[in-house]
Amino acid sequence: MKALVLGSGGREHALAWKLLASPHIEEVMCIPGNGGTATLPGCRNMGLSLSDFEGIARVALVNNLSLVVVGPEQPLADGITDYLQQQGLKVFGPSQAGAQIEASKAWAKDLMMEAGIPTAASEVFTEVAPAIAYLEQQPLPIVIKADGLAAGKGVTVAPTRDEAIAAVQAAFEGKFGTAGDRVVIEAYLTGQEASVLAVTDGETIIPLMPAQDHKQIGEGDTGPNTGGMGAYAPTPVVTPEILDIIQEKVLEPAIAVLKQRGIDYRGVLYAGLMISPTGDPCVIEFNCRFGDPETQVVLPLLETPLDEVLLACAEKRLADLPPLRWKPASAACVVAAAAGYPEQYAKGMVITGLEAAAENGAVVFHAGTQLHQGQVKANGGRVLNVTALGETFDEALATAYAAIAEIQFESMYYRRDIGFRIR
Ligand code: AMP
Ligand code: GLY
Repeated sequence: MKALVLGSGGREHALAWKLLASPHIEEVMCIPGNGGTATLPGCRNMGLSLSDFEGIARVALVNNLSLVVVGPEQPLADGITDYLQQQGLKVFGPSQAGAQIEASKAWAKDLMMEAGIPTAASEVFTEVAPAIAYLEQQPLPIVIKADGLAAGKGVTVAPTRDEAIAAVQAAFEGKFGTAGDRVVIEAYLTGQEASVLAVTDGETIIPLMPAQDHKQIGEGDTGPNTGGMGAYAPTPVVTPEILDIIQEKVLEPAIAVLKQRGIDYRGVLYAGLMISPTGDPCVIEFNCRFGDPETQVVLPLLETPLDEVLLACAEKRLADLPPLRWKPASAACVVAAAAGYPEQYAKGMVITGLEAAAENGAVVFHAGTQLHQGQVKANGGRVLNVTALGETFDEALATAYAAIAEIQFESMYYRRDIGFRIR
């Protein structure tokens, strides 16, 4: 069968790569894809916009694509799944109603309260004065969140009251556009963050291997937040016992309330969690899609053909799928970025050493790259995701770092301390 992957990041390269490793998949098309999917045998890019639902449906129907996998949150929040399903296509990714779990933090908080899911205490505000009055009463640090999608920039962890007030004012003054029309003010949580990506057909929900990523640009987890500078799975922070608690107290209640609300959720439910020092999981946020770069470490560990899992979700028969099989290994991913990211950075630099990196035993997933006149060039802030497996985490990490040392492009930057929290 043939499949379509929507998106252009490292996550989508990993999805296409894993689908093509399945004995059932003959071809994958990517819209729009990147330099990695352009050079992946069996994969073909199509240069359409992700907002062109009609064009995407036409490509899927004309090319007889049996499954559409939606990578990023924006098209999900815009209703792409509803549109494609109406055209008779099978889609992995929730409906517009389901995507609210990521697209509105206030909506997600309300769902968590209704489901009794452990999460930080919070209040939602639509006006600046009551928000500031509330802030005055709260302990510090405190967390200010724009309600809507803000490309990962809508959250401020404020150590002082002045910074908290400034964040509230900025949101209401339109810093995040309409995403900041509502603001969630939330208690600060401590512990270790972990990502549990779970696949669901709206009835059954199955967690994938727990992962951790490094959100901040600088070593020691310092500096501004990014999309993620490295990741690894499985993480010892989420023990099998904690994963059982997450299944029982977070994932199953979330699906039950989604169902009660009449939402047919088929896709990934990604729980961003804080694991307290005593091992209690608390939800920081939900996402309605695969994590990036978590996907790049989770999928290489999966033995079950990916299309079997995604189709079982899209066709609402996940309960009949045999238990997922996993490689008894660890995976690590180091992200190579263009210097300046997550602020201003250059594009167009020629990338060399990709073959040598692969010969070193790594899989190099491309994030912001483009194939241009036969050369792979940097085309985004996060450029490459150098991923490796090993019997142990240390082995996986050593292979990933040996491989990234082979790669060069002007102004390349990567963190040297991926995994420091578990070593
Ligand atoms: P979010 O977009 O909700 O994932 O938030 C971005 C980042 O802000 C998270 O990955 C955390 O590092 C941090 N953060 C968000 N909410 C909290 C919280 N309640 N307590 C501590 N840190 C938080
Ligand atoms: N790695 C964080 C995310 O995908 O949201």
